Amino acid sequence: MIRIANVTKAYNENAKPAVNDLSFQVNSGEIFVFLGPNGAGKSTTIKMLVGILAQDRGTIEVAGFDNLTDSLEMKKRIGYVSDEPEFYEKMTAIRYLNFIDDLFEVPAEVRKIRIEKYARMFEIEDKLGNEISSYSHGMKQKLGIIAALSHDPEVLILDEPMVGLDPKSSFLLKEALRAFCNEGKTVFFSTHVMDTAERVCDRVAIINQGCLIAMGSFAQLKANSGEQNATLEKLFLELTDKEEMPR
Ligand SMILES: Nc1ncnc2c1ncn2[C@@H]1O[C@H](COP(=O)(O)OP(=O)(O)O)[C@@H](O)[C@H]1O
Ligand SMILES: [Mg+2]
Repeated sequence: MIRIANVTKAYNENAKPAVNDLSFQVNSGEIFVFLGPNGAGKSTTIKMLVGILAQDRGTIEVAGFDNLTDSLEMKKRIGYVSDEPEFYEKMTAIRYLNFIDDLFEVPAEVRKIRIEKYARMFEIEDKLGNEISSYSHGMKQKLGIIAALSHDPEVLILDEPMVGLDPKSSFLLKEALRAFCNEGKTVFFSTHVMDTAERVCDRVAIINQGCLIAMGSFAQLKANSGEQNATLEKLFLELTDKEEMPR
């Protein structure tokens, strides 16, 4: 569960806010997609959700913990895949995964089963012994996803997770996200790719210039627009075009 209420964040005092009075709630068992053009404020929001940045105003709660006052307890329950994953390149992948699972205090037997499961799913099980420096961009992306899943978080937060994945891996990730949600957990991910959002999400929030401009299931968004045959892409372009919000 994620609750964000009236959150505003500017990178410096004179700048327009990167995120402007944002409020929404993501329920357990739900895949919630955060959709917006480049520079809309998606990564800024996500960095606040995972406890990397502090908001100027408003409140954020993830898995029942406040991001400012209970940051550590909150972080224990979050799996995070950054938009620019960084690794210790000289480590082997398996060493890296064990390092992450040490931080999250995952018991040895449990982590072994989970790492094997996800490595097999994303087809890098025979590459786990290799140095991360030898990994392609897509393989690193998969490693980041496995690391985020391997401590079995309550809430999974991913920033543009499909970028760099080939179609099959992207499909596998969507399956994994659905399975994760079916366990009553929460998935929140950002994308600027309409297609992805349309196919995977239970609900979508569209953000533009830091402001929330639409939220709901795809069917609701279509109903609101009065265009039953509209694609999400068409709605998205209309909404982000129309709402030239002064800031
Ligand atoms: N570290 C930073 N310092 C100053 N401005 C930033 C920084 N990061 C992002 N911004 C600005 O904040 C706005 C939102 O950026 P971001 O959250 O990265 O958008 P998105 O992830 O939707 O592409 C943009 O105008 C961007 O230029
Ligand atoms: Mg971003």
